[in-house]
Amino acid sequence: MSVTMPPLTIALPAGRLYVEAVELLKRCGLDLEAWRGDERRLLWTSPDGRRRFLVARPADVATYVERGTADLGITGKDNLLESQDDVHEVLDLRFGGCRLVLAAPGGRLPERLASGNGHGLSSGLRVATKYPRFARRHLAELGLAAQVITLHGATELAAVAGLADAVIDAVDTGATLRNNGLAPVKDLAASSARLICNRAAFQLRREEVAELVGQVRGLVEEHAQKGVGQDAR
Ligand code: PRP
Repeated sequence: MSVTMPPLTIALPAGRLYVEAVELLKRCGLDLEAWRGDERRLLWTSPDGRRRFLVARPADVATYVERGTADLGITGKDNLLESQDDVHEVLDLRFGGCRLVLAAPGGRLPERLASGNGHGLSSGLRVATKYPRFARRHLAELGLAAQVITLHGATELAAVAGLADAVIDAVDTGATLRNNGLAPVKDLAASSARLICNRAAFQLRREEVAELVGQVRGLVEEHAQKGVGQDAR
């Protein structure tokens, strides 16, 4: 009696990483946009039933992968740095590059807050971010005892509107910071898209995972050799 394997499920990031993720998988023979049909469909299967795809918020992709709802996923390193999900980070896909920075109006923290409180820590600094755990870690390392204000997007607004004194956010072109009168104070981390895998699937579905990972790795290396892919960010 043959055992039918469930489809290998791949979680894709909605938003700015989606198009390049789809393009990469298409070059591996997975024409998932054609199979999706309806662009609002969030879960669909390839015609041969061997692959299944889902689209989630980038910050949620690792949760689908950790819990095994998806075997593989693509998301940004920024989200992995924030996430507590235990997944296997397989490959740097070398697209979607950005920096995580502490930024403030004019590139300066307010003096009374940046100077410390006599114990090596400053207090009262309000930092808005959609990466609260990452922010707390880095602010502590910088000796800044800040209040972290968690938002779900457009964090730059917080520093402009007076909700916060600074932000910790992803910077790609830098246009959003610039256009809102903000500038980096401190560069904290680099990010790019990553291929992640459920830890059990990495062992139990080793052959299927290795086949796809091998294809993806080949394409990423080919792009790198051509000087395409990762920008100098
Ligand atoms: C990201 C990031 C910045 C912006 C930076 O937000 O959080 O706001 O892009 O890009 P830039 O340096 O090219 O201007 P995103 O567009 O993903 O939306 P969000 O703020 O709603 O999360």
